[in-house]
Amino acid sequence: MSHSTSAQDHAGRVALVTGASSGLGRAVAEELAARGASVLLASRNREKLAAAVAAIEAAGGRAAAFAADMTRRADIEAAVAAAVERFGALDAVLFNTGGPKLGSFLSLTDEDWLEGMDATLLAFIRTVRAAVPVLRAAPDRPAHILAILSSSVKEGIDNLTMSNTYRPAIAALIRTLARELGPRHILVNGVAPGRFMTERVVEVDRDAAARRGITEEEARAEMEARIPLGRYGRPRELGRVAAFLMGPENTYVTGQTLLVDGGLVRGL
Ligand SMILES: NC(=O)c1ccc[n+]([C@@H]2O[C@H](COP(=O)([O-])OP(=O)(O)OC[C@H]3O[C@@H](n4cnc5c(N)ncnc54)[C@H](OP(=O)(O)O)[C@@H]3O)[C@@H](O)[C@H]2O)c1
Repeated sequence: MSHSTSAQDHAGRVALVTGASSGLGRAVAEELAARGASVLLASRNREKLAAAVAAIEAAGGRAAAFAADMTRRADIEAAVAAAVERFGALDAVLFNTGGPKLGSFLSLTDEDWLEGMDATLLAFIRTVRAAVPVLRAAPDRPAHILAILSSSVKEGIDNLTMSNTYRPAIAALIRTLARELGPRHILVNGVAPGRFMTERVVEVDRDAAARRGITEEEARAEMEARIPLGRYGRPRELGRVAAFLMGPENTYVTGQTLLVDGGLVRGL
C-alpha cells in the first residue's frame, strides 16, 4: 500500500466496511483508513480479515476486524453495533458482499433465487435498517451509505442472471432511500464496477472460458479489448471513488449509482 499522498479527509470519521477481507471491499477499507478514518472490517473469514487489518495498521491506519456473514441478520446487526462500540460512532457504511451464484435462468431453482436474494438485496436492506438509527448525521455533516453493485445495473451480463436481477433492484431501492433518508442527512449511493482484478473476476472469466471452450487468458483478453481503457481496473481505483462518495466532500450526491468501468458499458 502506498498512500502517502492521500489527504486525511476522513480524519475523525468511523466507517463500517462489509465484505472487507479481500478484493474491492478491502481496497475501500484501505483507502478510507489511509485518509484517516477508523474502519471496522467485517466478513466471514477471520484469517483474511486479520491480514487486511494488519496491512492497514502497518501503513499507519486504524482498523479492527469483526467476523460476520452477510446472509445472517444477527451478524449484520452485530457488525453495526461493533463499529459503534469499538470506535464510538458511525459516519459511513460500505455495503459489500460476495457476488451471487452464476447460472442461466433455466439452471436456477427457487432455493438459488432465495439464497441469492438473502446474499444481495436482503443483506443490503438489513444493513441499512441496522445502520440508520446509529449513523451520526447533521445538516453540515451528512452520513453516507454506499453499496458496491455491478455494471449489471445498466447492462445484463451473460450467465449472471441473479446479479442482473438483484443489483438493479438495489439501485432502485437506493433512489427511494435517498428520498426517505435525505431529511435525516443520510446520503445513499451505489458504485457499479465493470471489471476489476479480484478473485471474483477470475471466477467469472473461468466460467466464461468453460462455457465457450476457450482459455481463461483468451476470455480475459477479449474482455479487455471491449474496455475503452484497455485493461481491468485496479481495486484502489474503485476505492478512491468510494472514498469520495462516502466522505465529507460528498454533501449533495445521493440516490445515484455510478459506473466505474473504464468505459465498458455503452448505454446510459
Ligand atoms: N471485481 C469485479 O470486477 C466486480 C465487478 C462487478 C461486481 N462485482 C461485485 O463486487 C463485489 C465484491 O467483489 P470482489 O471482486 O471484490 O470479490 P472478492 O474478491 O471475491 O471479495 C468478496 C468479499 O466479500 C466477502 N464475502 C463473501 N460472501 C460473504 C458473506 N456471505 N458475508 C460476508 N462477507 C462475504 C469475502 O470475504 P469472506 O470470504 O471473508 O467472507 C470477500 O472479502 C461482489 O459482489 C462482486 O460480485 C465485482
